Amino acid sequence: MSILIREAVEADVEGIAGVHVQGWRESYKDFLSPEALAGLSVEERTRMWQGAFRQPNPRARLLVAETDGGAIVGFARGGPIGRENADVLGTEAEIFAIYLLDKVKRQGVGRRLMGGVLDHLAAHGFRSVGLWVLKQNLPARRFYEALGGTPGAEQSFDLRGQMVVEVAYRFELTL
Ligand SMILES: CC(C)(COP(=O)(O)OP(=O)(O)OC[C@H]1O[C@@H](n2cnc3c(N)ncnc32)[C@H](O)[C@@H]1OP(=O)(O)O)[C@@H](O)C(=O)NCCC(=O)NCCS
Repeated sequence: MSILIREAVEADVEGIAGVHVQGWRESYKDFLSPEALAGLSVEERTRMWQGAFRQPNPRARLLVAETDGGAIVGFARGGPIGRENADVLGTEAEIFAIYLLDKVKRQGVGRRLMGGVLDHLAAHGFRSVGLWVLKQNLPARRFYEALGGTPGAEQSFDLRGQMVVEVAYRFELTL
């Protein structure tokens, strides 16, 4: 299966939302409660992702991974740091989300998505990028470390009724 990485367009929102929900269910089943995963809704995520198109920001980038059959199987989004994360992450930009379906993992698609977002952020003058990852999400942590990220602060929060711990990762960008 060949996978194309391209800029997302508004018609992709349902595909992105579907990957977001299925990605959580596949990837988080070992450390999030069945109740938290059952409560996810493609409709809710679709509305959330429509928001990304309502106020387009040229300094942000949303990329999708698409099969040759036209199915969205992954996405990644990064941009200027949000107000709520500026102090804690302490970086100029952040990765808001990166998700792949199980069937396309470990084929370099994550690296291509992340590289595309990081290149865009570097080209827009950002020098540091941060993100939060669940502490127990070891595959993603190994992935971020393979791409040069370094772990830092931790925080815990209530995720749909379950207390979870997240770890911050930081990437330095060079042009
Ligand atoms: C994390 C994720 C984006 C990685 O994407 P991917 O396409 O599977 O990763 P790649 O094939 O590009 O891997 C690049 C490198 O990262 C490291 N890596 C990736 N997955 C790994 C794993 N499961 N275990 C250990 N190292 C891993 C390896 O060094 C890999 O290089 P290699 O395959 O040559 O050894 C993907 O697994 C995913 O979507 N996970 C579920 C969602 C998620 O957890 N998102 C993060 C939310 S904060």
